[in-house]
Amino acid sequence: MQENQAAPMPNATAVHTDLEAEARRAAMVERIKDRQRTLGAPLPTRIEHALTVVPRHLFTPGARLESAYGDGAVITKTDACGVNLSSVSAPATIASMLGQLAVEPGQRVLEIGSGGYNAALLAELVGPEGEVTTMDIDAEVVDRARQCLDRAGYGRVRTVCGDGVFGAPDFGPYDRLIVTVGAEDIPASWINQLTSQGRMVVPLRTRALMRSWALDRDGDRLVSRSHLMCGFVPMQGVGSRQRARVDLQGGAVTLWADEGPEVDASVLEEALSSPRVQAWSGVTRRRGEPFGDLDLWLATTLEGTCVLTATQDAVNRSVVAPSWRLGTPALVEGASLAYRAKQRPVGDDGDTFEFGAFAHGSDAQRLAALLAERFRVWDSHVRGRLKPQMEVCPSSANDRDLPSGCVVDKPHSRIVLSWHAPTT
Ligand SMILES: C[S@@+](CC[C@H](N)C(=O)[O-])C[C@H]1O[C@@H](n2cnc3c(N)ncnc32)[C@H](O)[C@@H]1O
Repeated sequence: MQENQAAPMPNATAVHTDLEAEARRAAMVERIKDRQRTLGAPLPTRIEHALTVVPRHLFTPGARLESAYGDGAVITKTDACGVNLSSVSAPATIASMLGQLAVEPGQRVLEIGSGGYNAALLAELVGPEGEVTTMDIDAEVVDRARQCLDRAGYGRVRTVCGDGVFGAPDFGPYDRLIVTVGAEDIPASWINQLTSQGRMVVPLRTRALMRSWALDRDGDRLVSRSHLMCGFVPMQGVGSRQRARVDLQGGAVTLWADEGPEVDASVLEEALSSPRVQAWSGVTRRRGEPFGDLDLWLATTLEGTCVLTATQDAVNRSVVAPSWRLGTPALVEGASLAYRAKQRPVGDDGDTFEFGAFAHGSDAQRLAALLAERFRVWDSHVRGRLKPQMEVCPSSANDRDLPSGCVVDKPHSRIVLSWHAPTT
């Protein structure tokens, strides 16, 4: 630039946006750090750095800065019925799944389900020596991610359009594979495209419960290292699956019975209109205390469990009063149904709540008592003592070659869930 040439005037709106975005990003990172601290899993410094430098708002064009840096996912595509097809995932979910993935500099990573943002974070984590490929089944999503990545300075991330069930063999093998869409099974292609020491993180549904599992390769098997609660849009393409659902009361209450019991809608319809029976367990929790493993433990140790969801209207009309209307464990036997009840406050501090069961139908008394007893067993034998372990075995594995535990048979894998005391 010549000495007397005026410097170009910065665009005032752009500067304002950048500063505001930076401040909002810093606040988002602080909230994530607080959350991770509360969960007892401090945010690794390298992930904090990536979250701090990647401009998330450049991956959510059209969204206000408050939304881009808010706590929720930013929906980027819905179908004709309003069902979410694509989003930039919630930052806290992304951060904790990256923690599970434990990416090292120089590694080769495949992401299945693109939005651009997570791929940019991965690019920061692998550094200039590493490689990131992100793939999506939807060409529109891939184009969008490509444009956002280029605009944000991540031209080195590879974008691929294709069904993630097949992986992207041309660019593997991968040290890390992360799936950011809800999976119902683990196809062999994902295992085969991992290096022998590789790890995948996948939101996988077993017995109607989705958890993000970190799974390490061990020959032709995978063994879990950690799990987290999560929710993701369902997979499209050849990996999509019609879920086993039974709608009651015109869809006001739904039972999700993937790999669970046979549910007869007509007899349960009648049960639901019979009086509610309750059984309280004496087991309590403090406000904010996580208890997500209770549901997984029930689902894997008690035959007949499924998951109940209900509309807000059904809850308002007291048709059901579940612990969480978007997914509460339930137990079905013949013409009777029990579920984990909305917890009731106990004591004077306003911060202590008791687990209980509500039930309907001819056998309601027994089922409610049975569920309450399971809460007591969980409290005395499992809570804070045992952790779930998942082993993913090939679909060809014989029963005698499986570890002991709850076997969940999927089309492409045999999954075994068991409970153990943590080794460290
Ligand atoms: C939650 S979004 C991904 C979010 C993203 N990773 C981010 O950066 O926040 C899930 C994506 O998975 C994609 N998807 C669904 N089924 C797929 C499949 N079989 N293969 C690849 N992508 C798929 C959807 O099109 C959608 O864009």
